[in-house]
Amino acid sequence: MDPLGFVSEISGNWSKPPSHIVTFASEETKLIQRSFKEAMTTQVRYFPMEKHQIPMEYLTVGFIGAGKMAESIARGMVASGLLPPHHISTAVHSNLSRHEVFQSFGVNVFSSNEEVVEESDVVIFSVKPQVVKKAITELRSKLTKDKLLVSVAAGITLKDLQEWSGHDRFIRVMPNTPAAVGEGASVMSLGTAASEEDGALVAKLFGSVGKMFKADEKMFDAVTGLSGSGPAYVFLAIEALADGGVAAGLPRELALGLASQTVLGAATMVSKTGKHPGVLKDDVTSPGGTTIAGVHELEKGSFRATLMNAVVAAANRSRELSQS
Ligand SMILES: NC(=O)c1ccc[n+]([C@@H]2O[C@H](COP(=O)([O-])OP(=O)(O)OC[C@H]3O[C@@H](n4cnc5c(N)ncnc54)[C@H](OP(=O)(O)O)[C@@H]3O)[C@@H](O)[C@H]2O)c1
Repeated sequence: MDPLGFVSEISGNWSKPPSHIVTFASEETKLIQRSFKEAMTTQVRYFPMEKHQIPMEYLTVGFIGAGKMAESIARGMVASGLLPPHHISTAVHSNLSRHEVFQSFGVNVFSSNEEVVEESDVVIFSVKPQVVKKAITELRSKLTKDKLLVSVAAGITLKDLQEWSGHDRFIRVMPNTPAAVGEGASVMSLGTAASEEDGALVAKLFGSVGKMFKADEKMFDAVTGLSGSGPAYVFLAIEALADGGVAAGLPRELALGLASQTVLGAATMVSKTGKHPGVLKDDVTSPGGTTIAGVHELEKGSFRATLMNAVVAAANRSRELSQS
């Protein structure tokens, strides 16, 4: 008899309630457990016998916090075909409009954070940094060792995450806003019990909304100063380039379109050719030409030193905030 039929028969003939049926998890039984739930609406408890990776097609991911970052990542996972939307869940806190937002692309919206955790193999904490401790401690009893935990909260260390959850299979990720358009730059650092396979899984999940890098946690303030705050610096640069275009006689719309596409094109050249940006700059500056005249003005205005100072100032501020 197939295992599902077997348990179905036991639960039908046995005097104990179905919640007393226990299955020991291996990759196979974990999948069967899901079938039980669907077929019998019964509770079958799950005891991990060993740490294992669940195949991607059965993986479930839950977000604690139904905000902008959770939405970006969930949308990316669905749009890239990595996970079907019904394998993703979240719960709405107080802003009820978030319910519709997540349901509009097929994500399960449960009525509590507890349910999200119960249904998820990977739990991503995506609440504001000041709420993380409360959210984790309230869920602590549900955070069983078979679950991989992830936090995207800025400035919250792995040490605190592990202490609050009593769980050291934790991964800290620092994403950035372009994740919303599938071009995020995320950095991750692994907690003490997170395996290389766990890291590879999280890289795959966040890879659906951009690029994932790995770094020691002590670099996270610098990461915040560069990729975390960096989009704002580039927004300023695009606005300023467009203003320059307008000053030189272009209509505003054309100037803005050219400025943003130029930044996108230049960034893509750096990442696709693998050439050093200095080499690419040299390639486009002909002797006595227009571009070197512009570059000369940027150097007179300390363009590069100003950008370097901006990254260092933001990194310092991140350090201050995480210590306060
Ligand atoms: N956005 C970014 O670009 C970015 C970049 C890097 C890192 N992050 C990190 O990502 C995290 C989320 O940021 P966000 O921009 O997505 O913020 P957000 O849009 O404000 O989302 C936070 C969500 O958490 C919900 N929430 C509050 N208390 C909760 C609780 N106890 N249980 C469950 N949900 C609760 C809020 O719901 P209500 O509004 O209904 O209260 C809100 O939907 C932050 O820690 C931030 O540091 C964000």
